[in-house]
Amino acid sequence: MADFNDPIQGGPTWWRNAVVYQVYVRSFADSDGDGIGDLPGITSRLPYLRDLGVDALWITPFYTSPQHDHGYDVADYTDVDPLFGTLGDADALIARAHELDLRVIVDLVPNHTSDEHVWFQAALAAGPGSPERARYMFREGSGPDGSLPPNNWGSVFGGPAWTRVDDGEWYLHLFDSTQPDLDWRNPEVGDMFEDVLRFWLDKGVDGFRVDVAHGLYKEESLRDQVVEEGERPSSGQVNSDHSMVSLELKDEPMWDQPEVHDVYRRWSAVLDSVGDDRMAVAEAWTQTPESMAAFVRPDELDQAFNFAWLLAEWSAESFREVVVDTLAAVAPVGASPTWVLSNHDVVRHVTRYGGGEQGLARARAATLAMLALPGSSYLYQGEELGLEQVDVAPEDRQDPSWFRTGEVGRDGCRVPIPWGGDSAPFGFGPGEAQPWIPQPDEFKGLTVEAQTGVAGSTLEFYRAALAARRTHALPAGDEVTHAAVTGDVLELHRGALRVLLNCGTTSVPLPEGTVLASSRSVTDVLPPDTCVWLG
Ligand code: GLC
Repeated sequence: MADFNDPIQGGPTWWRNAVVYQVYVRSFADSDGDGIGDLPGITSRLPYLRDLGVDALWITPFYTSPQHDHGYDVADYTDVDPLFGTLGDADALIARAHELDLRVIVDLVPNHTSDEHVWFQAALAAGPGSPERARYMFREGSGPDGSLPPNNWGSVFGGPAWTRVDDGEWYLHLFDSTQPDLDWRNPEVGDMFEDVLRFWLDKGVDGFRVDVAHGLYKEESLRDQVVEEGERPSSGQVNSDHSMVSLELKDEPMWDQPEVHDVYRRWSAVLDSVGDDRMAVAEAWTQTPESMAAFVRPDELDQAFNFAWLLAEWSAESFREVVVDTLAAVAPVGASPTWVLSNHDVVRHVTRYGGGEQGLARARAATLAMLALPGSSYLYQGEELGLEQVDVAPEDRQDPSWFRTGEVGRDGCRVPIPWGGDSAPFGFGPGEAQPWIPQPDEFKGLTVEAQTGVAGSTLEFYRAALAARRTHALPAGDEVTHAAVTGDVLELHRGALRVLLNCGTTSVPLPEGTVLASSRSVTDVLPPDTCVWLG
């Protein structure tokens, strides 16, 4: 059995200082040769994750789904889609992970269901005014004959957030039209999700990643969003680079309503009722560090993704500000901070930092600085291989936002993982079965096989950094005692651990000390785009 009392693993509050590895289920490992990753594929690769040195994995939705948003459109929350396996496969995955000392976090999607969910199908059949419709956000249209949407809200994936059904009513979908928003003011909705939580807790999962946690409730009036002249009404998540990262302060009657916190108080009680080692982490694209902190008050969720770290530009001062502001925001509520550089919704960080050799050097440096910080780091599959965003050909794109807007979308960070071999599918699946998004030839030099045991490879860098984190960062306490910028160099102290990150263009002398970890080899100077830990 797993030894979760190991002090390094953190005992019941293991998640306060964890490294969590995000598995995008479609793209991690394919066991049956249909070109799509699945649960047995994940199980077969768990030893890899254990050896990498992470504490937990978060698995993106594998529930029954028509896959219009690749599982974030759930038709049955308590079953596994045949594409990915069976409930028995989920049991086997959880059991094997625990044997290997790995915790398992599953994804929960409470803002919307799939349009193929029995509730939505019943709502369509039952018609206006029915209790079945009252589980969703059906409204009459505006304009003289109701032929215009009820308000001006836009979908995160582009276009209006409303779709009209045959009898003339409209339903709200802040994402794709196949993802109708639930009405959380209807008590049936909260009861259903409590059952879902308990179902997966009974299966032994260690936590939940809460999708669109700042959604769920909408301002009751459903008033228009106030937009600047010339600005398109939007749901405030997607940036011009389609990375779902817009944190400008704006009027958002569709997000972050005060009532949502009652939901998380209820969930916190449910989690506590099964033991004190279960956790929940919010995906909440809130507008300020303070509004993010509200989700992690002691009786609410445990953590929230800190997208500010991911959004920071490449500069010592930006990174310093994010560290200081994040720690200041979570301290008053006693929560542990989180850090994230990549996920399945954003451009991979090697590419964000410019791509190529320099992008990779910066990505490794930012990763090493992140791993020194107190709290939890969330990694995204493939970043340990130094993968870049792939330029997916238009005919291969599958992101619903591509279909709604004609703009690139998120497929480029979702290309299946290269495990080994010289050509696609690079060991992703058995035989020659090609993956659901084609892999580029450049993956050849980046496979797990090609990097294993190779000094200086990104994979060996991650392994060493994660080991160094256990040895040198975790025992160094939970405080950042110093955060200062000199020239272009950020210096952070966590207890006896000193971290230097050179964001400039010239080398600087390396201060005295023992090098405990570095993002690339250093001598007596700290080169540009490099991070080092000194003891
Ligand atoms: C979250 C997910 C994203 C999904 C959206 C709708 O932001 O991370 O992938 O498309 O929610 O569920």
